[in-house]
Amino acid sequence: MQTFLRGRDMITTQEWSKEEIDTIMEVALDLKRKRALGVPHAYLRDKVLAMLFFFSSTRTRTSFEAGMAQLGGHAQFIESSTTQISHGDTAKEIGEIIGRYCDGIAIRQCDWGIGNKYIREVAEAARVPVLNMQCDVYHPFQILADLLTILEKKGDPRGLTINVSYAYASSYQKPISVPQSLILLMTRYGMNVRLTHPPEFKLMPEIVEQAKENARKSHGSFEILDDFDAGFKDADVIYAKSWGCLLTTNDLEESARISQKYTDWITDERRMALAKEDAIYMHCLPADRNIEVTDGVIDGPNSVVYDEAENRLHVQKAVMALTMS
Ligand code: CP
Repeated sequence: MQTFLRGRDMITTQEWSKEEIDTIMEVALDLKRKRALGVPHAYLRDKVLAMLFFFSSTRTRTSFEAGMAQLGGHAQFIESSTTQISHGDTAKEIGEIIGRYCDGIAIRQCDWGIGNKYIREVAEAARVPVLNMQCDVYHPFQILADLLTILEKKGDPRGLTINVSYAYASSYQKPISVPQSLILLMTRYGMNVRLTHPPEFKLMPEIVEQAKENARKSHGSFEILDDFDAGFKDADVIYAKSWGCLLTTNDLEESARISQKYTDWITDERRMALAKEDAIYMHCLPADRNIEVTDGVIDGPNSVVYDEAENRLHVQKAVMALTMS
């Protein structure tokens, strides 16, 4: 167990060792148990987390805010448009200044080609941990919650097959940070990771290469498919969600035209039946119901989406307690 984690940033799980991630899982389970039993766990009394959002959120905002309160501290919600950022406050100034007021800085900045760079600039300038609440490249806290959910529902993940798949959505070009973070982390836990997407929905080549290398080291496997149905076959975990064809085009009209070719990429009961009988259905939410996934699947017996959403709270509290205490 690696325990000296004070001051560390969480920008991607790839920058944390497996032993350190195991520590996060253990602490998260301990905090989950304490909350269930009503045992106080104010490890961050008098500490303050600044939460800077450039993009909307339901789960991330509420779980970080609740988590800080349960740890005895306080979380500030800062919507970027209410700050002086558009009038000149640089990433360096945000890191330097907010880092002097607060004990941690959490940021959501998902703009393609901008978000990760911004978070890293803040981290470079800040004297306190910087936590990535989702950028254009990574969504580490979602994926830590996903790992905890798989451990709870399935036990030892080694040898299990997870299908990380594109699904159609009509709402907007969603970031690729969830599938990228999933293939990076699940390949480190010896899973057989299947990435399924149409040709236009590729992920960043450097992330795919890292996932392949992770799989090699963990004795898991990594494969890429372009057949939606084939991705479900005999899988233990189905994680099918929409993302944008950002590596193909930045043009919104063109991306909408491309997406229209794949309106039948919806997780439905017939496809779930191709997976193992006890397969779990996961989604980070929000989902486009009856477009990405049918009500029957997301509300059905194989779905674990609410336990998965709950686990955001526990893993985030674990990382905050370990890095900000
Ligand atoms: N899954 C997730 O990050 O949800 P929000 O966008 O609502 O925070």
